[in-house]
This record gives sequence, structure tokens and C-alpha cells, in this order.
Amino acid sequence: MENHSDIRINSERLERSLKEMGEMGFTPETGGRNRLALSDGDKVGRDLLCKWIIDSGFELRIDEIGNIFAYRAGTDKDAAPVIMGSHIDTVRDGGLFDGAYGVLGSLEVMRTLNDNNITTTRPVALAAFTNEEGARFQLDLMGSSYFTKARTLDVVYAVKDDAGLSIEGELKRIGYCGNKTIPYGNYFELHIEQGPKLDVEGVSIGAVEGIQGLAWWRCEYSGEANHAGSTPMELRHDTLLAAAEAAMEVEKLALRIGNSCVGTVGRISVEPDVINIVAGKCCFTVDFRQYDKALFEQGKHEVEDIFARCAGKRGLKFEFKRLVDVPPVSFDADMVSLVERKAKEIGYSVKRMYSGAGHDAQFVCKVCPAAMIFVPSKDGRSHCPEEWTDFADAAKGCNVLLQSVLELI
Ligand code: GLV
Ligand code: MN
Ligand code: MN
Repeated sequence: MENHSDIRINSERLERSLKEMGEMGFTPETGGRNRLALSDGDKVGRDLLCKWIIDSGFELRIDEIGNIFAYRAGTDKDAAPVIMGSHIDTVRDGGLFDGAYGVLGSLEVMRTLNDNNITTTRPVALAAFTNEEGARFQLDLMGSSYFTKARTLDVVYAVKDDAGLSIEGELKRIGYCGNKTIPYGNYFELHIEQGPKLDVEGVSIGAVEGIQGLAWWRCEYSGEANHAGSTPMELRHDTLLAAAEAAMEVEKLALRIGNSCVGTVGRISVEPDVINIVAGKCCFTVDFRQYDKALFEQGKHEVEDIFARCAGKRGLKFEFKRLVDVPPVSFDADMVSLVERKAKEIGYSVKRMYSGAGHDAQFVCKVCPAAMIFVPSKDGRSHCPEEWTDFADAAKGCNVLLQSVLELI
């Protein structure tokens, strides 16, 4: 192929796309974006993305779980595509960049190929995966796990949100249940770091070597609702106190394991939720993450021991469900080196690093060679309205993506 090493993306267009997508699901009261998977906010974001895909002349494909693909054919009809992807769903009151940057950065790369009349041998494709976040339907990385056949349609369709609405029903309601996919090829995911390392060190690009393992649980304690005034402390079966103790134990566990281990109790609900009643029922979630495979396994067992121990101490019944269990992954060594080399060739500072957050690449790397490109997150903030990356930094990451893709097509 000709030498395209001087080609750069259109940074103004990337900024415009990000800002426009950021209006989809925007909530003025909080300043955040609400594109929870398959919600009305997600639908308007999807509609905008599909319009851009069609207007740019790419083939639009949507599969059974609502993953959206843009396909740009190559001259070799049998060649596997170079795929770039991420997600446009958000957490509740999420930021401008998490997910959307990777999808719109990929679209920008494909538009840049058009602008420069570049014909490729291999096809180039964009993938916007459904429900990466798992914030509404708590089976995260859903679209990429279905795409890579790690989870079946029966399993993903059956997942329900807090209101009892199913994935299948919501997909049909918003009109995103299709039947067309794309083949596997190489996979790049462009993303903001969502942590502080690049920002603190003043480095422009992260060449991501892997992602830490992620496990989620929902645990339910059942005790005895009783009068807050007349029930002596020693006679209580207080589920809220047991859950609070479990949360503290999870923190201690993560600190004891070390090796950047993290553990979080992010949701908790009590019944009957009344000021003068000892909580008879308490449900809470645990998010546990670790890079090392053996420590990840050990930590998961210890979390489940904590559930039992804290219940036993107060005479409670308990049950828990492991909602998600995705082991740590390492990306393809050649693709990580390619990202690193392209960043250096363009003249950007780059460092190798691991990802603290979960990403669709975690599943896609199981079926084809994959790597990720990170750009700095200001003050390491993410999953909040304050999440920020300077557009100049966003453009740099996108240029590294473009040049890495050009090397493979
Ligand atoms: C996804 O953003 C996660 O890491 O929870
Ligand atoms: Mn993300
Ligand atoms: Mn996220």
C-alpha cells in the first residue's frame, strides 16, 4: 500500500461529533449523560450514530443483541476486517467520553479514509457494543460477549433491569434487534484512561497491555424487621449492619491482597427502609477487581467467605449470585507494540500500561488479536459528569488509531 504515514484525522470533526453525541441523553439537572443501555437516551444516541454511518456511505449492520456495525469494504472480499470499537451506552449521569470517544474516534478514522480516497485490501469496520456498562442490566460487556460467542442469546435476553424489563423486550421496543454481524479480524479499542496515570505523568498515549479481572455479586441478607426503640441491641438480626460490616471487610480484603486490588460496594438497599425499624432485609452489590490471575481467584473466594461470615455473626439467612466473572486478560503483543511504535513515530509520548476499567476488548481479545489505546483523563475522573479529556489529547489517540489501522489494511 502507498505510504499514508502523514495522514491525520479531522480533529474539529471529532470534537463536533463528541459534543453532538454528548447532547444525547444529556440531563441538565446533573450535567451528566443518561444513555443507560436500551433506554430512550441510548436510542437517540444509536439513531444519531446510525445516521452518521449511513451518511458517510458505510454499510450499517445490527445484530441480535443490538450491536451496531459500520462496514467499509476492502478489495479482498474474503479478507477479515480490521475492527475498531467501544460503546455508546453510559452509566447513570456519565461523562462525555467513556465509550463514545472510542466509537466516534473509530468513525472519524473511517471518515478520514474516505476523505483521502484510500482503498484498502482488508475491510475496515466499526463496532458499537450494546450494554458495555452493565449499569441498568447487570451483565456488563453484554454486546461484546455475545459477539464473541462467550454468552448465548438465551442468557443475555433473559437479563432484567430493576423494573423487571428484559433485554429482549427493550431491544424490540427501541427497534434495535437485528440479524447482521461482521466477521472477526483484528480489534482496536480507543478509550479514555479513566484513571490518573497518564494525566499525572503528562504522557499522551497509553499502549494498553491488558485488563484486570472483574467479578460482580449481588448479596441478600434476610433478618428480622423490628421496633427500633423496644428491640434490645443484643436481640437484633440487623441486616444493614451485616452489609455495612461486609463492605468494610471487602475494603480490608482489597488492601490486604494489594497489587492494586480494588473492591467496591456501590449499591445497597434496605427493607422496609424506615427510620424506626431495624432493617429486615438488605441487598448490596460487590465489584472486585485484580490483575493477577491467582490473586483474582483467591479474592473471589474470600469475598464469598465475607458474605457468609457477616451473616453468621448476626444470625441472618443469606444468598448471593455471582453476576459477572471475567478473568484478567493480556492483549496481543504485536498489536500492543504496533500502537506503541505508531505513537512514537507520530511524535507522541507513550507508555505501556494496564487498564483498571473493564472494556469490550476483554471479550474480543479472546477471538482475535486485540489492543487498546488510552488517552489521559483529567484528574483521573470518570463515570461522573466531570469526566474530561482535552480535545487535543482525544485527537492524538485517534491519530494513533488511524496509523495503527493503516498498518494492517
Ligand atoms: C466499565 O466501565 C467498568 O469498568 O465498570
Ligand atoms: Mn467504557
Ligand atoms: Mn464505563
